[in-house]
Amino acid sequence: MQRQIVESFDPLHRELLRDPYPYFAALREHDPVHWSDLGFWVVTRYDDARRVIVDKQFGQGDFIRNIQLFYGEDFDVLAHPAYAWLSRVFVMQDPPDHTRLRGLVSGALSLKRIRAMEPRVRELARQQLDRYADERHENFISEFAYLFPTLVMCDMLGLDEDAASRSQLLRLNQAIADTFPVFETRALNPEELGLADRQMVFLTEFFSTLFERRRSQPADDLTTALVQAQEGNDTLSPEELSTSVIGLFGAGFETTAHMIGNGMYLLGRHPDQRQRLADELALAAPAVEEFLRFESSLQATYRTALTDQQLGDQRIRAGERILAILAAANRDHRHFEAPDVFDIGPRPQKPLTFGGGIHYCVGAELARLEGRIFLEELFSRYPDFQVDCCGARLREAFLFRGFDHLPVRLR
Ligand code: HEM
Repeated sequence: MQRQIVESFDPLHRELLRDPYPYFAALREHDPVHWSDLGFWVVTRYDDARRVIVDKQFGQGDFIRNIQLFYGEDFDVLAHPAYAWLSRVFVMQDPPDHTRLRGLVSGALSLKRIRAMEPRVRELARQQLDRYADERHENFISEFAYLFPTLVMCDMLGLDEDAASRSQLLRLNQAIADTFPVFETRALNPEELGLADRQMVFLTEFFSTLFERRRSQPADDLTTALVQAQEGNDTLSPEELSTSVIGLFGAGFETTAHMIGNGMYLLGRHPDQRQRLADELALAAPAVEEFLRFESSLQATYRTALTDQQLGDQRIRAGERILAILAAANRDHRHFEAPDVFDIGPRPQKPLTFGGGIHYCVGAELARLEGRIFLEELFSRYPDFQVDCCGARLREAFLFRGFDHLPVRLR
């Protein structure tokens, strides 16, 4: 079976979804620049993956063509609200549009701003851990891992109490989870695509109401800043405003939730590392890096060759797509010592977890802060927490890797 995947990479293969690392290792060693029958290249070595995401000879290219690769040439990409949205998200853009749109939000996520958020992020972590414990919840993913970073994003975007009611938050979480499969490296089936489209319409309407409120009642939040940027000059169209806010909102918790879930599972599986962290909480920051290196919640990203390129032994032609598997690069023994060992001590080598180059994750510092604070609060408030790894259920997604069910008891 492993051979089969190596012969043609398929992100829907059940065994690959269950445990991708043996397949990544086989590709990395035997076919590092691999052609998948699905019509794209797959790179798994650290140096190749880094080059693909950093080198400006690789970019996003022709969005319509890239999506039609999965569906065929007759597929009307922009007729689908979910793909129309994706076409405008700035991670999918090349300069100069990428530079302009990223510039509008990156200030709000600067290291200085993020550091200033620490007390509030800590308060939210405490609140949500205590609520989880008091209400005796079972599923740590939906009842903590998602809610905590979602509330942080609500604060940042200025979603007030009303919009941030529990049921509304769960609805928003679900809408993002149903929409984000458009990032996946495959065609969605008609049910998935229909659902993604409907949820995108819901998200667009939901956020339009917020924009209207912020136009009439400005506040000290990112939405007001973006609404004012849109009104002040013509650098941001109404669609771009809506796209950017939905994109930030979703990116702000979809990966972070699974960083927390995957980390919790890893601590459950590795009691020695859990004990080490309990003994020395200063290891919280490197532990978060290790969660993300060892079991990254975003496994890969795409680029298009903008000109003909040589990659390893292969000639890549202009217009061809390349899937850079960051999670495979993060286990490359050419770059990391003992890459298959989960070790929360600081590592000198830098993983590709947050990407690199012009698309380097704008939320990396926020994700790191949330991860560290979560661990500090968990270990100091609930040191006897129990993780039931046998009861864990993985979601069926290649790109966004994590669990949809993980039983945890805090006391
Ligand atoms: C553990 C959490 C996270 C992981 C693993 C992660 C990973 C990544 C990666 C790998 C990229 C680069 C994609 C590429 O090069 O194609 C990226 C970009 C991005 N991330 Fe994150 N991210 C995380 C959290 C966040 C958070 C908390 C936010 C927002 C508050 C965020 C917002 C974004 C945005 C807007 C981009 C696009 C940047 C651009 O195109 O210039 N991410 N992320």
